[in-house]
Formats: sequence, C-alpha cells, structure tokens
Amino acid sequence: MTPVKIGLLGLGTVGGGTVNVLRRNAEEICRRAGREIIVSKASARDLSRARICDTSGIELVQDPFDIVNDPEIQIVVELIGGDGIARELVLQALENGKHVVTANKALIALHGNSIFAKASEKGVMVAFEPAVAGGIPIIKAVREGLAGNRIEWLAGIINGTCNYILTEMLDKRRDFHDVLQEAQTLGYAESDPTFDVEGIDAAHKLTILASIAFGIPLQFDKVYIEGIARITRIDVAYAEELGYRIKLLGIARRTKEGVELRVHPTLIPHRRLIANVDGVMNAVVVKGDAAGPTLYYGAGAGAEPTASSVVADLVDVVRTLTGDPENRVPHLAFQPGAISAIPILPIDAVHTAYYLRLSAEDRPGVLADVTRILAGHNISIEAIIQKEALTEETFVPVILLTQQVLERELNAAIREIEALDCINRPVKRIRVETLG
Ligand code: HSE
Repeated sequence: MTPVKIGLLGLGTVGGGTVNVLRRNAEEICRRAGREIIVSKASARDLSRARICDTSGIELVQDPFDIVNDPEIQIVVELIGGDGIARELVLQALENGKHVVTANKALIALHGNSIFAKASEKGVMVAFEPAVAGGIPIIKAVREGLAGNRIEWLAGIINGTCNYILTEMLDKRRDFHDVLQEAQTLGYAESDPTFDVEGIDAAHKLTILASIAFGIPLQFDKVYIEGIARITRIDVAYAEELGYRIKLLGIARRTKEGVELRVHPTLIPHRRLIANVDGVMNAVVVKGDAAGPTLYYGAGAGAEPTASSVVADLVDVVRTLTGDPENRVPHLAFQPGAISAIPILPIDAVHTAYYLRLSAEDRPGVLADVTRILAGHNISIEAIIQKEALTEETFVPVILLTQQVLERELNAAIREIEALDCINRPVKRIRVETLG
C-alpha cells in the first residue's frame, strides 16, 4: 500500500511532538493503521525557529493554505488553535475533500456543528481526540467504549493550569496570583491565561464531552462558567479542614428536566479519587448506567501526551481509507439524525450542595438569624464551624455546608442573609459535589 501523506498546520509543541512520535513508533503505527503515515509538509510562522523535532524530509512552508490546497495531502492536522484562521483552514481542507485531525477545542466547541455538517457533505472525517484532556483517550472512551451505556453524568478536571494553581495553593499555602505567574512561565497556561482561570478552556472541553455523552448538539453558549480567580487560600484551607478539596470541575448531568452544563470551583470529598488528582494532571469520571463510574486519568497537555491523541486519530482515519467509509464512527457519537434537543438548564435550576463562608458579627443570635433564613427556604445544614477572627475585628468567619438545594432557593436565602446588619457582604459560596 502507498503511504498516506499528511500535512501539519503548526509545528510548535504539539506539532513537534507528533513528528517525534510518528518517527519513533513508525513501524508499530504502520502495523496498526495498515499504511505508512508520512508528514510531507508542515507550516510554521517562523521557519528559522529551532524545533523539538527532526524536520528532515518535511517540506516547511509559511503559508498554511499551501497544505490544505495540496492535492497530494490526504489528512490535515490542525494545531494552530483558536477559531480564526484555523476555522478557515479546516473548512478549506474539508472543501478539498481532506480528512482533518484537530487539537482545537475552541474550534470544535464553537463551530463543530457546522464543521461536522461540512465533513459529512464531503464524505470525510474530522477527528478531535487531542482537543480534550491531552493524552487521555476520553473521546474514544465515551463515544465508543461506553456506547452501551445511558450516561448519567460526567465530571472532569479538564484544565491543568487551574488544577496546578489550586494544588499549589493547598500544598504550599501560596496565593493565586503568585502561582498563576509561575504556571505561565512553565508554559502550562493558554497564550491568554484568562481562558484557563476563567474556566473558558474547561467549558470548551465540557461542551464536547457533553455532546458525545448525551447525543446533543455542541452548545458552548449555554455552559455556566465560573473560574477560580476568586478562590482564596483561606477557602482552600477551610475546605480541607472540613474534609474537602477545591477543584475546578466541568460537570454535565442529565436530569428529568434537561442537562446541567457547568464549570465552576467545586468542593469534593477528599476520599474521592478525583479529589486527589494534583498538579497539571487531568481526570474525568463518567457515570454510565451499566459500567457504573469509570475514571480516566493522565496528562492533559504537553508535547507527546497530546501527540499520542493526534496519532491515534491519524490511525483511525487511515484505517477508514481502506475500510468501509459508510460505517464510520459518527463525529458526535450518535448518528447525525438522532441528535436530541434536550434543553440545557439555566444555572438557577441546578441542584447542588454549597459551602458558604460568612463574615458574621460575634454576638448572640446571629447564627440563629442565619439558620432561620436557611430553614425558611427549606435548606438543611450539613456542617457549621465558626473560626477565630482573622483580624482584631468583631466579625468572625462562619463556614456552613448545606445539603443539596435548588440554586434559585439558595440565591434567595443569600440575598436575605446579606441584608442582615450582622453579616458583611458578600457571602462567599462554592458549590459542593459528592460525586457519589
Ligand atoms: N491550557 C490547557 C490546560 C492546555 O491548562 O489544561 C491543554 O488544553
């Protein structure tokens, strides 16, 4: 069989890693795919830059359109990122009848529906395993490995930068801004780190996971997103004292009313395996009705972990070049005509437990007022602790854990609590998930 020629759009960290993995494991990859895979062209903005890979035998070009318009190239690997030029290139590649592998989570989350429609029209594949959780084969696990299940919920640590920051805040009692700076220097963060800390990167990935879990269209604009910038060392320490770790979780849950789709800092009991996923590592728990909970753990970014997913997608595509193209795995796991219009719930319709931190005047009757308000909204208290005053003030921190509550009710209760003279505004709140 003749080798399959591929072109890389972008020859940075992941592009370089992909070349290295393809070279190093060429023989085994060929045995798996049935054809040899050759990188014939790669594009880079600066051709003179030093690379992490050996580029001999690869034609380097500055204009990425040289690759998507090259009739010899059968598969285009998009590693540019963002939804600007990358989108144009992917659409052009599809128009030209080429298969696409992409690591671009923003592109798939924001424009995947139209990209997949174009791919189906042209009879080609778009594969995106590297877009979610780097080296963890989570797309394949959910789309194919769990295909027999009705998936009930999934929850993931899917942004390594945030997880690194929260881990350092806990382990070394460091401040948020200090750790963020370090994460940028170490190269974990996105080029715009607000995408990480504000939860946008995780929301892109959650959008994709929810679609393949529930058979719904990609709906990034309906994800509730809250980042970690307001998490303090104090909350991390109090949560630990109560037996919880704070993690930025992406949660997708099917309920009778619709689908919850949310990214926010979350207290998780520290006996849960996922609560112990530290540093830049990623992990996703998927709860299927048949398999029960399954946990996927690994490197969520980096040259070779992400290249591992790029190459796995390349192998899948190459296999279909010789197999039955009518029987490909559908892009979003479910057959295109069977995508469901289940509503995505607004955040105030979500049921979850809460960690509340109040700054309360230290005098009799204050806690009675607070608990009366919570009881009036049918909110049960799971735990309550009062801490020493942080300064010389007469106000003290009071930490409350509630049982599960409808968010709308909790909002109403918090408004009443914040109106009390004996409570300083705002009441700090972080959602709690037991993931049981
Ligand atoms: N900035 C991302 C992260 C990289 O921190 O997880 C991988 O998508």
